[in-house]
Amino acid sequence: MKRREFIKMSLSAAALAVVPSCTTKLSEHAAGGGPSSGAAGNFALAPRRRELFDFDWRFKPTPTPEIKDAVALNKWVWIREQPGQTADMMSQPDLDTSGPDWKTADTANESQMNFTGYAWYRMVLPELNGPGRTVSFTHVDDNGEIYLNGKLLDSHQGWSAPFTVDLDPTWNTHGPNVLAVRVYNADGPGGIYGDVALGRLPVGDQFFSPDCDDSAWRKVQLPHDYVVEGEYSSKADTGHGSLPAFPAWYRRTFSMDAADQDKCVWLYFEGVFRDAKIYVNGKLVGRHPDGYTSFHVDIADAVNFGAENLLAVYVDPADFEGWWYEGGGIYRHVWLNVADKVHVAPWGVYVISEVADVTGTPSAKLRIETMLANRTQETQNCSVVSTVLDPDGRVVVAATDSVTVPSSPIPSDAREKILSSSDVEQPSYLHTGTQLVQEINLSSVRLWSLAERNRYTVLTEVLRDGKIVDRHTQKFGVRTLRFDPNDGFFLNEKSVKLNGVCNHQDFVGVGIGMTDSILYYRMKRLQEFGCNAIRCSHNPMSPAMYEACDELGLLVMDENRHPGSSIATKSWVGQDYSNTWHVESMVLRDRNHPSVIMWSMWNEEFGIQNKPFARDMMAALIQAVHQHDRTRPVTCANNSGAEKNAWSGGVADSEDLLGVNYNYQDFDILHKEYPDKMIHGSEIGSNCECRGIYETDKVTAHLTSYMSPDGSWEPLGSRKFVAGGFYWTGFDYRGETTPFGWPEINSNFGFLDMCGFPKDAAFYWKAWWMRSQPLVHIFPHWNWPGKEGQNVPVWCFSNCDEVELFLNGQSLGKQTMKAFRYLKWEHVTYQAGRLEAKGYINGQIVAQKVVETTGDPAAIQLIPDRARLVADGQDTVPIVVTVVDSNGRVVPTASNKINFKISGAGTNAGVGNGDPSCHEPNQASYRSAFMGYCMVLAQAGRTTGILHVIASADGLASASVRLTVGKA
Ligand code: GAL
Repeated sequence: MKRREFIKMSLSAAALAVVPSCTTKLSEHAAGGGPSSGAAGNFALAPRRRELFDFDWRFKPTPTPEIKDAVALNKWVWIREQPGQTADMMSQPDLDTSGPDWKTADTANESQMNFTGYAWYRMVLPELNGPGRTVSFTHVDDNGEIYLNGKLLDSHQGWSAPFTVDLDPTWNTHGPNVLAVRVYNADGPGGIYGDVALGRLPVGDQFFSPDCDDSAWRKVQLPHDYVVEGEYSSKADTGHGSLPAFPAWYRRTFSMDAADQDKCVWLYFEGVFRDAKIYVNGKLVGRHPDGYTSFHVDIADAVNFGAENLLAVYVDPADFEGWWYEGGGIYRHVWLNVADKVHVAPWGVYVISEVADVTGTPSAKLRIETMLANRTQETQNCSVVSTVLDPDGRVVVAATDSVTVPSSPIPSDAREKILSSSDVEQPSYLHTGTQLVQEINLSSVRLWSLAERNRYTVLTEVLRDGKIVDRHTQKFGVRTLRFDPNDGFFLNEKSVKLNGVCNHQDFVGVGIGMTDSILYYRMKRLQEFGCNAIRCSHNPMSPAMYEACDELGLLVMDENRHPGSSIATKSWVGQDYSNTWHVESMVLRDRNHPSVIMWSMWNEEFGIQNKPFARDMMAALIQAVHQHDRTRPVTCANNSGAEKNAWSGGVADSEDLLGVNYNYQDFDILHKEYPDKMIHGSEIGSNCECRGIYETDKVTAHLTSYMSPDGSWEPLGSRKFVAGGFYWTGFDYRGETTPFGWPEINSNFGFLDMCGFPKDAAFYWKAWWMRSQPLVHIFPHWNWPGKEGQNVPVWCFSNCDEVELFLNGQSLGKQTMKAFRYLKWEHVTYQAGRLEAKGYINGQIVAQKVVETTGDPAAIQLIPDRARLVADGQDTVPIVVTVVDSNGRVVPTASNKINFKISGAGTNAGVGNGDPSCHEPNQASYRSAFMGYCMVLAQAGRTTGILHVIASADGLASASVRLTVGKA
């Protein structure tokens, strides 16, 4: 089918001229401006058009709109769906429903469906003049597909939220009009209950319609989390951060060139939380229930070429997928893609490398797999040039192949399948095509490692009749992975202990709507404390996070959210898992990242994990992973008891690596029972403490920092066969308020607080994860007026051999440090002054730490993480704000309210202080300091200039900084 031919450099000078150097920032190359790392660090080159759709959105939070002239609909007939009864059959207007199997039902009766599965509800609707005919539902439990006159109009996920459906598209003005609803009940009672009504929705209220006037709606830009903008309330779910979650609409216009008439056009949504419905020019073109996976929506048949188009997106975060703060909105980037009908399919290039002489002078055999889509009606003869550029952007090698690409048009029922599915998600068909495999040898490879983050780029050019019709770039890294059951993990044949953390996606001020630069900041912050691995708990993250890990040198355990086919917080025996697209989409999206070292299929599926069902489900998921990647092992996070054989017969029998959540006593048992499988601590720790607090107060919900962290690392640190583990968590996150609940609004698990300010525990991890850097850290702070003469214990985290503590120059004794432990001076009589610890290795002082009693708050200090931003409208710099005394020392108890004025070339993107009980708004021009610190996020605008930040507070000297907002 194809002709192979190796060439050294086949590119034309013109083509090479457009290949940017990979050493420059990728954002320079993003078509449409803005950071481009969104789609795996790749950039668009003509003739492909790839445009960032993050700006110029109009936004409206919306309760379900009220319909006019409403009449109640309450006489249904219904039947349990039998095998073989297709939607085509059951939604037909002339279906005979007079038989005895059809029951009559009243909408108010919620116990109609006492089984798990599908049922059909039908009724003939009364006459109604249009336009704007709309049906409104209160509860369809759990999910509903809405058909009118045999045609699917919409589907809705989740039992609790009311929704409306526009009936105009298939309304029959001469009647009759038969409404059919296919209801899926996942558990417990189900059906249609609460009020159902037919009425009219004025065009102005049809938010998907191009005729709706949105000029008064709020202007927003992505990434955007609107739930975080709300007011904390004890009535909202504490587990999810005590912030109300409700549906909302986003709208923006875009123009399409008349010349693009024959092109493929699709949108790429990196993530929407959740249950997204996508409309183009009033037409429902896609939906995506899951809030964590990225997805593509084909819109070619809905756009008007040579004209203005309207994109409208409905989101409904009211139904949750997890047990932590999940936010709501279009919280990751959105891209428009316009490409020739013959093109590289989305996520369509994969580079696998086989490395020789990894510890000497490495070389690699690259296998480049390219998925070519041909959406024309005819077979196309193409040639494909794959050019490899080294980390400096220089062409090193290329291969050209001729390839016959049969036509693979998008099936006509593809959209209907997506729209009607209540599954987690459905493949969009955009990923299908003909696969080309090319093999190229790369000599003198620069490996990707934690210290040298070398990444290569493959530029793919597709030619038809000698003309380049598509160009696509894909970054990748060359490295080897080894997972040894006895010796742990090896990167490039060098042993690396996984000093990992788990994280949820959440940050001060912005919630889940984190820009690329915030995601990068978070990763960098963790690395500063010795972290070298990230577990994506418990879902795929934003593409920019993986990009940051590639760039910084962090390893990633990528994690799938729902092992089953449908949305559920947890799985059960018998849950359907035949649809594996969610797992496949994660693998397809993330497989070129050198940082990703393993795939995790789930977290703590208690109902199934040690049963044969889990073994089979895992085997099916592994098969799904293997369709797209065979270079990484598959694992999950299992939380089981320690009894012997507890794991056997369950998931451990089929997964590649054993991920153990907590249960450190399992390590030795498992090592014996599964001598061929590497073990890692997929989740460890879960210690709770509050930054700067040394006395637990249940009323204010503040937890002491006198907490022993050693129990969770010693079992891993001291066992060679345990590859390392992932601490729960790196950062605090909203929701999962442990241990108190309201008034707490965020968790206390992080060793960094919500802002990334270190708690004392962070220094325990730093000490043992960065053993080559001598460290002593002592706490508490030394501002205890009124406690003179009383006992204030002093604790110490250190990796030195010995530590000596001094108070006002007087030694309180030297203690010996055991590996992975910590020290306490239990009896220290408080006197204000200077507490000092000296760390010794081999009798020499190698580290010191001083904690002093400070004076009263006198001034504000601003410490921006960077002084320069890029004028891309998104670049965000966290500014650390401290309250200091007249000697410039942070006052560790200060709680002054700080006011911010941000002017010039940027804005205030949000504020925070790390206090788990603070109910001040996340987006405001002020924030109270918490134990001396707070944070403001300064965000660049889209024009260059100076961004000026002024911080002031009553009674304190104010502070200001000027940041430069420049070109990329
Ligand atoms: C784990 C769970 C995490 C989090 C944590 C809190 O068992 O996997 O998601 O809930 O407990 O301790």
